[in-house]
Amino acid sequence: MPVKSASPKIAGARSPSRRDLIKLAGAGTLAVGSAAHASGPTGGEQADSKPCGPRSFPQGFVWGTATSAYQIEGAWKEDGKGESVWDRFAHSRGKIENNQTGDVALDHYHRYREDVQLMKALGARAYRFSISWPRIFPQGTGIPNSRGLDFYDRLVDQLLANGIEPFATLYHWDLPQALQDSVGGWESRDTAKAFADYAGYVSEKLSDRIKYFFTINELATFVELGHGAGLFAPGLKLPPARLNQVRHHAVLAHGLAVQAIRARAKPGTKVGPAENIAAVVPVVETSENIAAAERATRELNAGYLTVMLEGRYSDAFLSSAGADAPKFTDEDLKAIASPLDFVGINVYTPQYVRAIASPPGYEIVPFSKSHPRMASSWQFVGPESLYWAPRHVQKIWNVKEIYISENGCGANDEPAADGVVYDSDRIMFLRNYLTQLQRATSEGVPVRGYFLWSLMDNFEWSAGYGTRFGLVYADYVTQKRTPKLSAAYYSEVIRRNALP
Ligand code: FCB
Repeated sequence: MPVKSASPKIAGARSPSRRDLIKLAGAGTLAVGSAAHASGPTGGEQADSKPCGPRSFPQGFVWGTATSAYQIEGAWKEDGKGESVWDRFAHSRGKIENNQTGDVALDHYHRYREDVQLMKALGARAYRFSISWPRIFPQGTGIPNSRGLDFYDRLVDQLLANGIEPFATLYHWDLPQALQDSVGGWESRDTAKAFADYAGYVSEKLSDRIKYFFTINELATFVELGHGAGLFAPGLKLPPARLNQVRHHAVLAHGLAVQAIRARAKPGTKVGPAENIAAVVPVVETSENIAAAERATRELNAGYLTVMLEGRYSDAFLSSAGADAPKFTDEDLKAIASPLDFVGINVYTPQYVRAIASPPGYEIVPFSKSHPRMASSWQFVGPESLYWAPRHVQKIWNVKEIYISENGCGANDEPAADGVVYDSDRIMFLRNYLTQLQRATSEGVPVRGYFLWSLMDNFEWSAGYGTRFGLVYADYVTQKRTPKLSAAYYSEVIRRNALP
């Protein structure tokens, strides 16, 4: 389905932002009839979802932080690591703000012990990090590189020794460049297959200590921005039919990886995606607008979360793609919809809608000119997104275990004269978003944990090191890490398991 023709109705004109491009990408344009309540994930622990105080979270709620390999590790060609598409992309001039790269980044590859101590000081109980595929399989497939695996072995041991539960993401966009060169990367089914083999291998090796695996981080982002808009690695601007095939291979890779993990990991290992769902918010909470928001959620996520949870591409999705629709088999769809243990959603910004009488039954309400944003231009503030996104996931797809796999904000942090970063804006952001998350859990929406993006400032993709998302300030010259004021705020939330 071409992004262009996928645009839902937008009241008032404006040019699309980074997030729009992604959100529109999963969309079908037409009404899809009554919402299908497909059977949701299997498994899922029934933790006590009753909070114990007025502003508290359920007992056992998992508080964590999140990062990804390319954004923090550095050591881009150490210990046998292969080149990734992000290495190649960042090394090409003009792709990243100030031509910055992740060559050194936070040097986490060498400083992970110190970074685990930062988490411990926060009181965080969990850590979501990603494993770099080209560290494990430098060529994408073939002979694994044991020195690459050793790094994650050490990291996981360090986490567990400090009482922090590891949640590993298997793909946070750093495809081995060798696969891009040999088979055309995500344009080929072979890449989906190679991903499943890699996922099976890693889960077999590490599931003695890692219980939770996320398959792919934000399918929509790396597909749309990397293969449609050309803004992310590998920097392609594919025509609609080829782009649709990339979308299909991404969801297929997710599904095949789920199967490979089930086959090879220790019993009890849990698996799910970490998708940046279009977080649809009824602009005014009337029953009509809420129903419209549910319709919009299925349609705006049609190529990603919807097909993963329903096992079919919606009619609207396929008809809007027309002759450019992806080629797929029934068996593909079965794999894509492999039962999950949980669903991870990354939530940053809202998509406001309201009901309309004509198809597709909803319309997107534009942001006003002065709508508040955080430091990244795409990040419109909408705390209610952290209430509605998990609520839709539960209501529409009957999901029993949800994680907020990312939430946080970019800011223009600077240390004050006394060396402290007074990031009052980040505290304001977190307080408001977490209030809405608490609203969700207190109504019984089964959110089991929350991973704040990010533990520390890091390489923010094409924005380079300009926009800071961390609870901990990073001096990129000295590699000194200094917790910001927001770290104290988050610590207090964790300590109380409630909003202070
Ligand atoms: C998400 C990405 C993450 C980071 C945050 C700010 O889209 O998953 O790597 O860039 O945005």
